[in-house]
Amino acid sequence: MMAARPMALAVLFAAAALAAGDLSAQDGDDLGEVTYVRWCAGCHGVDGTGNGPGAEYMLPRPRDFTLALYQIRTTANGALPTDDDILAIIDRGMPGTTMPGWENLLSDDEKEALVEYLKSFSRFFTPDEVPQPLDFGGATRVNADVLAEGEAQYQALECWRCHGNEGRGDGESSPTLTDDVLDFPIRAADLTENWLFNGGGEVEDIHRRMLTGLDGTPMPTQADLITAGIIDEDQLWALAHYVRSLSPDDPPGITEVVRGVLFEDAPLPSSVNDEAWLDVERAYLPLVGQIIVSPRWFDPRVDGVWVQAAHDGESVAVRVSWSDPNNSPDPEWADWKSSIISLMQPKEGDPQDEGPTPDQLMVQFPMQMPEGMEMPFFLRGDDSRSVYLWQWQSDRDGALEGEARGFGTEAFQSEGENLTVDASHADGEWQVMFTRRLVTDDEADLDFVTGEAIPMALFAWDGDNGESGTRGAVSSWYFLFLEEATPTTVYVYPALAMLLTFLLGILVVRSAQKREREGGEVVSETAI
Ligand code: HEC
Ligand code: HEC
Repeated sequence: MMAARPMALAVLFAAAALAAGDLSAQDGDDLGEVTYVRWCAGCHGVDGTGNGPGAEYMLPRPRDFTLALYQIRTTANGALPTDDDILAIIDRGMPGTTMPGWENLLSDDEKEALVEYLKSFSRFFTPDEVPQPLDFGGATRVNADVLAEGEAQYQALECWRCHGNEGRGDGESSPTLTDDVLDFPIRAADLTENWLFNGGGEVEDIHRRMLTGLDGTPMPTQADLITAGIIDEDQLWALAHYVRSLSPDDPPGITEVVRGVLFEDAPLPSSVNDEAWLDVERAYLPLVGQIIVSPRWFDPRVDGVWVQAAHDGESVAVRVSWSDPNNSPDPEWADWKSSIISLMQPKEGDPQDEGPTPDQLMVQFPMQMPEGMEMPFFLRGDDSRSVYLWQWQSDRDGALEGEARGFGTEAFQSEGENLTVDASHADGEWQVMFTRRLVTDDEADLDFVTGEAIPMALFAWDGDNGESGTRGAVSSWYFLFLEEATPTTVYVYPALAMLLTFLLGILVVRSAQKREREGGEVVSETAI
């Protein structure tokens, strides 16, 4: 199952609830209109201009259908999409954005009626002009030479200018990119996460996007280069294969347990770049914006982290890696940061942190091993159940250990006693490694046990994306399982992640509806 799925699901329910709440279909028998008003208007607006009640919580914003600007097409750059193109987007949605897929939720009749209805928003679609798909040919075979050719094209065509040397969206132009319509900041896609590509992550999808371009975005089409004879068809396929190779073969599945590998004979990794990490399995934990406690955050940069863990019976080491285009604070990203803050905090009147916002990572464990499912609240614990915290930030040496009973109650111990940290930022990626003894003589520290699933949650902030405090990315509870010498059974708990993202989705809607009712007044209380 794709890691991006829970978010999409959440959004779907959010959209459904939105529609059921504030908007109801007008009388009328046009199936397209009725379906649109019920399922799409919450985001795209009743008039199709992309200004539904939920719109200002989303970046990218929902599409304005009156412009007839479609990103994901089989037609030439600047051309209208075919009906099948629009149908395909309705089915698949746009991964990496809030646009959900409707494949199994709407009937064929409803979807076909929607296509006609969407087209009716724009005068550009006329019955006389039938858009024609390009001929893409079939994918070439891939081998090491093809990948090397693709990499050479990636360099020669300067894809790295936006996407960065290793594809993580950290190229030198990336802080300055904006979309063509609203002039809002737009991220150069992270090419190491193909499951979040708007138009699909397979080599054929990538090849199509390069030939057709992504209209409305700064992503250029490569079609002219073929026409001009600068590259040939095979070279373009080689580039597509290379881009595909930057992501894992399969999208990461949803893992609940991070396995802490027992290093019985070898020393634990001693630094973040220690080669010993290469042999330790990684788990991908999806993160979502924190939207429970106000001020909420709907534009998290960090959409997931890779976590590895190892222990040797004495100490535990946890390495967390994630894509982040830069080491915040960085003056080159200052404009990006202020646009994001002004776009994503439009009317809430929240106090803004002046001053620098570093990148941050926090790892959280319950202070007491929970009995059964009695977990502390995943956002920093609660009155009756406290949490134990590890905290790292990019503008400070060392890491902090602390405790909390709810957001804003974090209390950190004096620096660096039992916890050490090593961090490095390169090619658009942070890697942060924490090391601590399993058991310390400090009463305020959690004792790590082996052979049990220890609940663990993560929080990450990209400072130059305007993130700090409650504005950041959060995970729900996962589990760290430190292996014992004799294999034991891992007890896997139910998929809390699914439930959490579902709840978060509903909350977006609630707060949007509430604001609608209150005429855009400040929503100050917490939703739960
Ligand atoms: C939860 C919000 C949300 C809902 C509900 C939603 N959309 Fe979208 N939709 C978006 C966003 C955001 C984008 C723009 C994504 C981007 O620019 O990358 C989008 C883009 C699109 C596009 C443009 C595709 C392209 O190639 O550029 C189409 C078509 C579309 N939506 C159709 C629909 C239809 C039909 C429905 C109802 C069945 C619907 N959407 C419901 C958020 C939503
Ligand atoms: C001027 C900046 C820029 C350059 C140069 C550029 N891209 Fe992009 N690219 C973008 C942006 C911005 C997006 C994200 C668009 C969006 O989110 O809607 C993107 C998206 C993509 C995607 C994801 C498509 C999808 O379905 O979401 C791929 C793949 C890609 N680019 C590959 C390339 C390759 C290969 C090259 C070199 C030939 C290249 N890009 C050059 C800016 C650029």
